[in-house]
Amino acid sequence: MWYQTKAAEILGIQYPILQGPFGGNLSSVELVATVSNLGGLGGFGAYTLSPQEILQVNQQIRLATDKPYNINLWVSDTDAVDGTVSDEQFNRAQQLFKPYFEELGIELPGKPEPFKSRFENQVEVILHQRPPVFSFMFGSPSADILEQCHRLGIVTVGAATTLDEAIVLEAAGVDMIIASGFEGGGHRPSFLASAETSTIGTFVLLQLTREKVKVPVIAAGGIANGKGVAAALALGADAVQIGTAFLATAESNATAIHKQMLLSDAAKYTTLSRAYTGRLGRGITSRIAKDLVSLEKDFLPFPLQTSFMSHLRKAAMASEKWDMVLFWGGQIAPVLKHTKAAELMRAILEETNSYFDNLKI
Ligand SMILES: Cc1cc2nc3c(=O)[nH]c(=O)nc-3n(C[C@H](O)[C@H](O)[C@H](O)COP(=O)(O)O)c2cc1C
Repeated sequence: MWYQTKAAEILGIQYPILQGPFGGNLSSVELVATVSNLGGLGGFGAYTLSPQEILQVNQQIRLATDKPYNINLWVSDTDAVDGTVSDEQFNRAQQLFKPYFEELGIELPGKPEPFKSRFENQVEVILHQRPPVFSFMFGSPSADILEQCHRLGIVTVGAATTLDEAIVLEAAGVDMIIASGFEGGGHRPSFLASAETSTIGTFVLLQLTREKVKVPVIAAGGIANGKGVAAALALGADAVQIGTAFLATAESNATAIHKQMLLSDAAKYTTLSRAYTGRLGRGITSRIAKDLVSLEKDFLPFPLQTSFMSHLRKAAMASEKWDMVLFWGGQIAPVLKHTKAAELMRAILEETNSYFDNLKI
């Protein structure tokens, strides 16, 4: 059967379908449990959570499902040298964004406190709580952490945006690799070359990776239905990871307007921009993203740009200025039909089954 893949076997799941984890408070326990209970692998993006919050989320997931699930972190979670920027750099960014703050009638925020990486403390909870699967992006954890995961029976899954990154992850001892194509919603998790020069489509990256690495490869980016799953499997994927389609369902923690936007005509156009967080990510094209396309050198490094832009986002949401908000989403959004996660999951399985059944005739 199409679903009996090496990845499904290692992950201990019935169907090789992963619900993409969402960072930035967009994941939900309900979504994770719905997907895992239906035989896929639910995923929770935890990179903005404190260790205590990760512990709680892990406990809540365990209460909601007895099936395997995934918790996701960002190995590298800052680009700011010493966690901060010079006053001069901050002032330049303030000047750049001033017109938008004026338009919304809000004060420009002060310089954010220096940011300290959270990964080391977060990963302690992973090792202590032992979720069945630990996935990560923006690099590979140290050999020691991967070694401990293996010893504790935690399956490790790393994201690559280029063949070179896939090779580095395999050499580090990661169990499975996500071939993360540039169609996908959210951040480009590049960690060797710049994200701007690592914009390969899912199906090319999948094939290049399949040829050169031995561990199972999971295709992510631009997959939202059974035909997409079948195509990925035909090209050598061991599993798929689906983000945008699950983000649009009632069970995700995205706001109602975000889901509405993903299911609207607006989702026909997406942009890769650093404007919102300081790292390159794909969302529905907005006025701000368009305006700022050539001014990236004055943005603050990740995550300081986020703390700055969150004020703008809050005010724009409150005054319903949707063209000033980034609604994360991938290029596949215009094909979305389902607003309930269980319906989406069942439809994907039915479509994939019928695709492979028809091949036999
Ligand atoms: C809003 C949003 C947030 C995301 N956050 C994360 C994250 O924190 N960690 C991660 O590994 N992947 C993250 N992703 C990537 C997804 O897990 C998945 O790989 C991707 O969405 C697949 O492409 P698709 O959107 O075309 O389905 C995010 C995607 C979106 C849309």
